[in-house]
Amino acid sequence: MLHNANLQAIVSHWGAETVRTPEGQRISLRRATREDAMIVFEWQTSPGTRVYARNRQVPSLTEHLDWFSEKVASDDSQIWVGLSDGRPFGIVRLDRRDEEWEVSIVVAPHMRGSGFGKAMLAAIDEISRDKKLFAEVLPGNQASHALFRAAGYRLSPDGRYRRSE
Ligand SMILES: CC(C)(COP(=O)(O)OP(=O)(O)OC[C@H]1O[C@@H](n2cnc3c(N)ncnc32)[C@H](O)[C@@H]1OP(=O)(O)O)[C@@H](O)C(=O)NCCC(=O)NCCS
Repeated sequence: MLHNANLQAIVSHWGAETVRTPEGQRISLRRATREDAMIVFEWQTSPGTRVYARNRQVPSLTEHLDWFSEKVASDDSQIWVGLSDGRPFGIVRLDRRDEEWEVSIVVAPHMRGSGFGKAMLAAIDEISRDKKLFAEVLPGNQASHALFRAAGYRLSPDGRYRRSE
């Protein structure tokens, strides 16, 4: 049985991951490559995204390209690109923090509010069953708090969201 009963997931490790949004739109995930750096730069530097980043300073393009290449190559990070109709609409990044992996997510501004974030987290859930995942969300980030709750995460006493077992 699938972990998230609302979403159908066809999962194969490292292969195409496919789930549907609550409205029935099919999405899939693939691992990011360095070619994805520019679109991620666009999403991450949009004003509505940066305001909720831990580091609110907007990086230069050079800084971003260096950072992105390092993340894509690292064994301690995974960047997954969400695709709808073959087009990228967002990313989920996993960063190893001791025994757990921190989840960060960005959906392209024009795609927000339609279930795409929730669908990506459902796919990540299936891909990462062997990992302990958590997310840190800034207090005012209502969309992100709602997203992680809707995706089955619960707030832990240390202020982090963790997947319900
Ligand atoms: C947070 C973010 C990823 C959410 O993605 P999304 O695709 O818009 O979210 P979804 O449409 O899947 O919505 C998921 C849930 O959150 C709720 N939600 C979405 N946007 C909301 C908002 N602005 N205010 C309140 N609730 C909201 C939805 O109603 C849904 O709940 P439901 O299933 O109970 O109805 C997106 O807003 C984003 O990229 N924000 C900027 C980056 C960011 O803050 N990332 C998180 C840092 S950890």
